Amino acid sequence: MDKIVVLVSFVGLLLGTAGSNLSDDVVVLGELESLEIEGDDVELFDYPSWTSERGSKVLVNVDGFGAVGDGVSDDTQAFVNAWKQACSTPKSVFLVPKRRRYLVNATRFKGPCADNLIIQIEGTIVAPDEPKNWDPKNPRIWLNFFNLTGVVFQGGGVIDGSGNKWWAASCKKNKSNPCKGAPTALTIDSSLAVKVKGLTIQNSQQMHFVVSRSDSVRLSDVQISAPGDSPNTDGIHITESTNVVLQNCKIGTGDDCISIVNASSNIKMKTIYCGPGHGISIGSLGKDNSTGIVTNVVLDTAFLKDTTNGLRIKTWQGGSGSVQSIRYQNVRMENVSYPIIIDQFYCDSPTTCQNQTSAVEISQILYRNISGMSKSENAMKFACSDTVPCKRIVLNNINLEKEDGTVETYCNSATGFGYGYVWPSAECLTSSDKDLIIKPTQEVELAKPSPENLLHSEL
Ligand SMILES: *[C@@H]1O[C@H](CO)[C@@H](O)[C@H](O)[C@H]1NC(C)=O
Ligand SMILES: *[C@@H]1O[C@H](CO)[C@@H](O)[C@H](O)[C@H]1NC(C)=O
Ligand SMILES: *[C@@H]1O[C@H](CO)[C@@H](O)[C@H](O)[C@H]1NC(C)=O
Ligand SMILES: *[C@@H]1O[C@H](CO)[C@@H](O)[C@H](O)[C@H]1NC(C)=O
Ligand SMILES: *[C@@H]1O[C@H](CO)[C@@H](O)[C@H](O)[C@H]1NC(C)=O
Ligand SMILES: *[C@@H]1O[C@H](CO)[C@@H](O)[C@H](O)[C@H]1NC(C)=O
Ligand SMILES: *[C@@H]1O[C@H](CO)[C@@H](O)[C@H](O)[C@H]1NC(C)=O
Ligand SMILES: *[C@@H]1O[C@H](CO)[C@@H](O)[C@H](O)[C@H]1NC(C)=O
Ligand SMILES: *[C@@H]1O[C@H](CO)[C@@H](O)[C@H](O)[C@H]1NC(C)=O
Repeated sequence: MDKIVVLVSFVGLLLGTAGSNLSDDVVVLGELESLEIEGDDVELFDYPSWTSERGSKVLVNVDGFGAVGDGVSDDTQAFVNAWKQACSTPKSVFLVPKRRRYLVNATRFKGPCADNLIIQIEGTIVAPDEPKNWDPKNPRIWLNFFNLTGVVFQGGGVIDGSGNKWWAASCKKNKSNPCKGAPTALTIDSSLAVKVKGLTIQNSQQMHFVVSRSDSVRLSDVQISAPGDSPNTDGIHITESTNVVLQNCKIGTGDDCISIVNASSNIKMKTIYCGPGHGISIGSLGKDNSTGIVTNVVLDTAFLKDTTNGLRIKTWQGGSGSVQSIRYQNVRMENVSYPIIIDQFYCDSPTTCQNQTSAVEISQILYRNISGMSKSENAMKFACSDTVPCKRIVLNNINLEKEDGTVETYCNSATGFGYGYVWPSAECLTSSDKDLIIKPTQEVELAKPSPENLLHSEL
């Protein structure tokens, strides 16, 4: 198959005055390329070793509070009592011992706690599996951590939501079921400076891990898994949070691997494996005419396999707010239906959604070094609102193909530009600029050294 190297010159963009502005584009590109999210990677690995410093730590073992750990006995009260003790004692370690299964009901673990609390989960915490008996006072939570500062979760253990019966009871599985929400397995809410390292979360009733209303949260080596057909089982969901770093996470579920929603900014994702699932998403935003704002998001190094979407931004008609300053780079796709997609007509509803004049504004989105295989023809899809166009979409070093057939870029009301190698070509991004001059032979000089033209097949 022939590939076209499209080198859009900035001179061309300058002449195409309709929707482009040289100084703007250079500024945008510069900003996107240098977009740095606070969060020192080195610091990520600076986890306290509670065993080697046991002398100075106070061990609070749930077994000491009557937990049985046989997977059958109700250990909720033991966890609640152990939490009271651990939370009120400086330098304590809340220990869930290994090789045991603790059955625990919906529980709120509230802070503030004394300094330097470590939550050491080595064994398995399992949820009761019967939706009918779930605590009616806590319909949407299972393990909920609230108002913590400077807490570390670690230990290599497992959090298992026993979601099977919840999935079967979902209206997405069976239209005659009522549509109601199910619990989130693990929530970190209204917290500051929390680190989570090396935990497995699986088979959640609904979302697996929610970070809400929090600042400075670092997740690393977190594994999340649920069947590809389990409904609404998002992996990591970030809402109203800032300065969140996700690193080395492996996620496969029945919904978004990662979803970033309203009032979230400075989010960095590094080395993410996603699949099966619905991809790595910003949104959905703007449902029921609401305002949604997400800014400064970087994804660097990801591998997506067998997902319905790759890099997705999804917003509802009628919303307001914005998605701005997003950079995706070094991403490899395999068997992904829509590798790059902006969908401003998102409608996850049994009834059709009417088009409206208002929409969440999308601008300054950079896709760089993205390669792999698309399952659909629309390897790149920019479906933007007629009244609120997507602006300043920048593509660089894109190589997306389809095993059996051609790929193309779909644009509706989207503007931006590509440079370097871009396949499928994305001329439709600039098609509104009738005067745009594309000079296929002219190399672009950027402020930074131009990245190599070609993509590589290995991550
Ligand atoms: C181009 O952008 C610059 C800087 O934002 C602004 O001052 C100028 O008015 C813009 N020109 C046009 C034609 O929009
Ligand atoms: C949360 O913790 C802070 C101290 O860190 C305390 O002042 C505040 O009252 C707590 N909020 C709630 C709702 O418990
Ligand atoms: C856990 O939930 C079950 C079922 O609702 C209930 O019978 C039991 O009392 C709960 N345990 C605690 C400690 O609240
Ligand atoms: C859907 O739910 C209804 C009512 O609960 C039940 O009778 C029916 O067997 C279910 N269908 C499937 C395919 O599970
Ligand atoms: C979005 O976040 C802002 C700021 O936290 C909040 O005021 C607003 O209610 C949120 N919107 C929705 C739809 O949750
Ligand atoms: C959203 O706004 C549109 C247009 O003003 C209105 O028709 C619609 O009923 C609103 N929807 C909701 C859920 O408020
Ligand atoms: C492609 O991904 C879909 C899920 O989206 C999966 O069902 C299918 O088996 C995958 N195909 C291959 C060839 O792996
Ligand atoms: C909404 O607008 C888009 C873009 O113009 C169009 O493709 C789509 O059919 C419209 N949807 C409805 C429900 O009118
Ligand atoms: C593009 O990806 C390759 C490997 O996939 C990497 O070596 C190169 O540094 C990347 N370029 C940029 C600009 O990140």
